[in-house]
Amino acid sequence: MTKSDNVSTQSTNIAAPATLDEFVLQHGIAPDALEKLAKKLRTRSKAQTKNCTSGEVIASTRSVTKLFNRNKSNQVTALQDVSLDVHEKEIVALVGPSGSGKSTLLNIMAGLEQPTDGSVVFGDQDIARLSDAQLSDFRARSIGFVFQFFYLQPFLSLEKNIQIPLMFAGVSSAQERQSSSDELIELVGLSDRKQHRPKELSGGQMQRVAIARALINRPKLIIADEPTGNLDSENARIVMDLFDDIRSTYGSSVLVVTHDSNIADMADRVVHLSDGKIVEE
Ligand SMILES: Nc1ncnc2c1ncn2[C@@H]1O[C@H](COP(=O)(O)OP(=O)(O)OP(=O)(O)O)[C@@H](O)[C@H]1O
Ligand SMILES: [Mg+2]
Repeated sequence: MTKSDNVSTQSTNIAAPATLDEFVLQHGIAPDALEKLAKKLRTRSKAQTKNCTSGEVIASTRSVTKLFNRNKSNQVTALQDVSLDVHEKEIVALVGPSGSGKSTLLNIMAGLEQPTDGSVVFGDQDIARLSDAQLSDFRARSIGFVFQFFYLQPFLSLEKNIQIPLMFAGVSSAQERQSSSDELIELVGLSDRKQHRPKELSGGQMQRVAIARALINRPKLIIADEPTGNLDSENARIVMDLFDDIRSTYGSSVLVVTHDSNIADMADRVVHLSDGKIVEE
């Protein structure tokens, strides 16, 4: 039996793993597998109007420190005393050299890694206090992830890829899943590509599918780790414009890691990390 025999494109037959974490493990997309490739600097021509960011705080880290290999000879201080607020409808760019702790901070904010010290607060909820099951549920409902390498399922159509998180969230009605995905496919401008498989799409189109997938549960916060790192400057600009649309249409906030100063300039606020510390804002 080939791998494709296992995966039906019929929505009712997709064997969804029990949790998003299980899915991530099955498909080898654990956050620590995110690539550490050299990043190309991209350029962008169009100036972007900045939005007001005086909304309420929706997510924060409070004095977060993260040590890897604690008390071992190879201990690494990935983050040190990092306090960061993300406001409602705000686009925050996180920048800094390779190894400065950007992905670690994203993973901690998303509840994928535990801080060694400090807390992560969403609304009035300290996510460090949640059980594993509650944490999975929190992630599925409150956070949308977008990665540099898209991580689409190659055997599923564009629309089925986008519907995956709805299956984790227990939306059993195929019709409901269809209407949710239709709306997002239109938002990302791919209505004429619904039945295409990922390999039939361009890199920029694949990233737009990944963004639509991240949005389908209407998360308050989109977390994106170098979502434009594999795109040319025009597609990188389209992705950032899409984040702007998402903020206006759904009221989501976006925390985006980028190495590209032109992309960072499109954000409302730029946070600089260096050696695990916020150095300026
Ligand atoms: N699982 C891990 N075990 C040990 N050390 C780790 C682990 N994950 C990250 N680190 C270390 O923590 C530091 C911060 O890593 P992180 O991946 O957050 O950097 P980054 O800013 O995202 O870098 P890049 O721009 O290259 O993606 C680095 O020194 C890295 O080697
Ligand atoms: Mg990283």
